[in-house]
Amino acid sequence: MSASDNSTPSNNAELQVYRASVLYFTADPAQHSNAYAWHEDGLLLTSAGQVVAAGDYQQLKATLPEGQEIQDYRGNIIMPGFIDTHVHYPQTDMLGSPSPGLLPWLENYVFPTERRCSDPAYATEVASFFLDELLRCGTTTAMVYSTVHAHSVDAFFNESEARNLRMVTGKVLMDRNCPDFLRDTAESGIRDTEILIKKWHKRGRQLYAITPRFAPTSTDAQMQLAGELAAQYPDVYLQTHLAENTDEVAWVKSLYPEARSYLDVYEKFGMLRPLSMYGHSIWIDDEDRRRMAETKSAIAVCPTSNLFLGSGLFDFERADALNVPLSLASDVGGGTSFSMLQTMNEAYKVARMRGTYLPALRMFYMATLGNARSMQLEKKIGHFAPGTEADFIILDPKATPLLARRTANTNSLDELLFALAMLGDDRSVKATYAAGKRVYQR
Ligand code: GUN
Ligand code: ZN
Repeated sequence: MSASDNSTPSNNAELQVYRASVLYFTADPAQHSNAYAWHEDGLLLTSAGQVVAAGDYQQLKATLPEGQEIQDYRGNIIMPGFIDTHVHYPQTDMLGSPSPGLLPWLENYVFPTERRCSDPAYATEVASFFLDELLRCGTTTAMVYSTVHAHSVDAFFNESEARNLRMVTGKVLMDRNCPDFLRDTAESGIRDTEILIKKWHKRGRQLYAITPRFAPTSTDAQMQLAGELAAQYPDVYLQTHLAENTDEVAWVKSLYPEARSYLDVYEKFGMLRPLSMYGHSIWIDDEDRRRMAETKSAIAVCPTSNLFLGSGLFDFERADALNVPLSLASDVGGGTSFSMLQTMNEAYKVARMRGTYLPALRMFYMATLGNARSMQLEKKIGHFAPGTEADFIILDPKATPLLARRTANTNSLDELLFALAMLGDDRSVKATYAAGKRVYQR
């Protein structure tokens, strides 16, 4: 299953055809009334790992070669694979660890668990489990944190490449305020990062992210070098955490008393840019939001994590008002589920708690095309335009007795999707395909 298999026409250029209801987005439903394509009786055609066409069965069947085999998924929904813009693979084994807040949770659970990745065999094993778990939940692309160990990135990308997935990760940079066993130095962190960029960025479907954990765990020297590296490699991602928790914000204020805000610390080091992804970003103000919109810096909203750790309720209304690029993310192990359906469920409730409202169509847009756009990957993934990469899932609206009963009683697509978001999880994913090949089947 290497990336190069896909370019072997004799093996893979064969047409694959799938019949089911077909859904994909073409625009943001929050901004456009005509934002999606829905074919109740639809077909998806793929070849050589790419989408050839998506549309109505009645229209497309006439274009098929005679005797073409059709995989019959009628009763299910085919849609683009989910995208998760912020998640930590080395935290898989401590997901759901109790703590009164972010900082003690990092100290007591995250750091000891990330230490285990000092063993490359463990890193490989947990990366393999993590990727299989994403696929079970219908997530085909993710923006992932590795650990401070350079080999944790190799372990992850090797497993991702073996499954031919489009994935992003990076070595965590952390040279202060952390245990010795997880500490790099300003110079070694940047040197390792540059080696990993050259080795992995754009190799097959793999993409690199420069990954300073967050401002408190990098010295000024490391932040400065990370910002310079980001300027040197403008097509490489940058990911970090921002204003997740009020204790964290106070800590940053004490470390950088001269900065206007937490975001301003990142800005001073040149880290506001397209292809940057800021996890959480709860405790920010309108000036921060304006700067993020102006610099095309995106936010990864992490509702299951923010509720679990008691971090706060993300303000969708202010973010929308100032046009900040938004995405939806699990943040496992702070998040409590790998499922983007469960992530939508809690995003919806967070919006309600703040007096706003997220329609199901918008949440499914976010988890597919919206997240692809936030990562500037919309030319490759997140929808079904011809020539895009054939990463897709088969969602079963009757996956459980309760789902079957509930979805039989919906009166619109929005209601059907809403029931899937409230009641669905990994059980709703019947199959997952990456680059046109089935990589998971329930
Ligand atoms: N802030 C710094 N590191 C982390 C992390 O690993 N998880 C979360 N949720 N917040 C962080
Ligand atoms: Zn995180």
